[in-house]
Amino acid sequence: MSEPLVLGIESSCDETSIGIVRGTQLLANEVASSVELHARFGGVVPEVASRAHLEAIVPTLQRALSKAEISPTELDAIAVTAGPGLMGSLVVGIAAAKALALAWNKPLYGLNHLVGHVGVDMLEHGALAQPSLGLLVSGGHTSLLRVGDIAGDIEELGSTIDDAAGEAYDKVARLLGLGYPGGPVIDKMASEGNPSAIRFPRGLTSQRDMERHRFDFSFSGLKTAVARWVEQREMEGKDIPVADVCASFQEAVADVLTAKTVDAAEHFGVTEVILGGGVAANSRLRGLLEERCQAGNLTLRRPRPGLCTDNGAMIAVLGVAVITAGHQPSGLSFGADSGLPVTQVVVKCQ
Ligand code: KG4
Ligand code: ZN
Repeated sequence: MSEPLVLGIESSCDETSIGIVRGTQLLANEVASSVELHARFGGVVPEVASRAHLEAIVPTLQRALSKAEISPTELDAIAVTAGPGLMGSLVVGIAAAKALALAWNKPLYGLNHLVGHVGVDMLEHGALAQPSLGLLVSGGHTSLLRVGDIAGDIEELGSTIDDAAGEAYDKVARLLGLGYPGGPVIDKMASEGNPSAIRFPRGLTSQRDMERHRFDFSFSGLKTAVARWVEQREMEGKDIPVADVCASFQEAVADVLTAKTVDAAEHFGVTEVILGGGVAANSRLRGLLEERCQAGNLTLRRPRPGLCTDNGAMIAVLGVAVITAGHQPSGLSFGADSGLPVTQVVVKCQ
């Protein structure tokens, strides 16, 4: 069989996206974001996101099909994010995927959004090494993964015990009055600041914490430390050096993420590291991870920033991997699972 042609649908948060992929070749990746509708609320409003998905899904599909220059009859399968994510957002993508699968008579795969983030680099650099060490950093999740096979063998080595890295970015941006989403704006501000200006805490890195939480993360203490530091300055009537705060906060995040990733790779004897999730677009994280992987003789794979945030192409290429590995389709009766664990790549029929 020639390489599978898969249409992927993603609607787990505030991006409605349809990607079309043949093998590992990207044919289309259309994204409609409702981020501007949420900005004034300082975070994603689930009800607003669901409505935006409903309005955007058909036009986004039409754009993707015309960009890819394919006819639906040529598709081998449809893949859709089944979880994790916002329930009301997930169901829009899943309902659309089921309708298309039925109308076009195509097999349907309900897939894990987080695994999509980790596997998206296949679009740029082909199949992943087996095993790979995955650093997953998104708005809702931060985990270290041992990826034996992206289509079905994923083990979680550690994860955040409180906030996710992206969540910390969003909360710190809010307290600095920088708006939502926080990641891109802090990244930009940080480039003008001094990363050593303030020494913010590195969560779960003390010797005692490392005994129990060597491969886990914690960002809630860091967020509180930034808040306290800013409050203190305000009480003293001094200006807030926003760029320095951003750079110092970002340094603390990138330092912990990269140190623990390299430590895990060495500990588990995995030589290839793969970065994924919205925070993987972060310039300092990308740079420091590259430096530390090189120093540790590890190969690093980083998807280009445009593929790091939520998109349908990552779901489509994961669909290709799942089909190639011989998995059965999910059928038409599966539901959305807002808490789908990262270890479950394909959802089963209920
Ligand atoms: O993976 P993603 O697009 O959505 C989820 O699945 O959660 O990740 C969104 C997160 C947000 O918290 C956003 O602030 C963060 O990714 N983000 C960044 C950057 N771009 C997006 N964080 C740091 N630096 C960036 N350049
Ligand atoms: Zn995501």
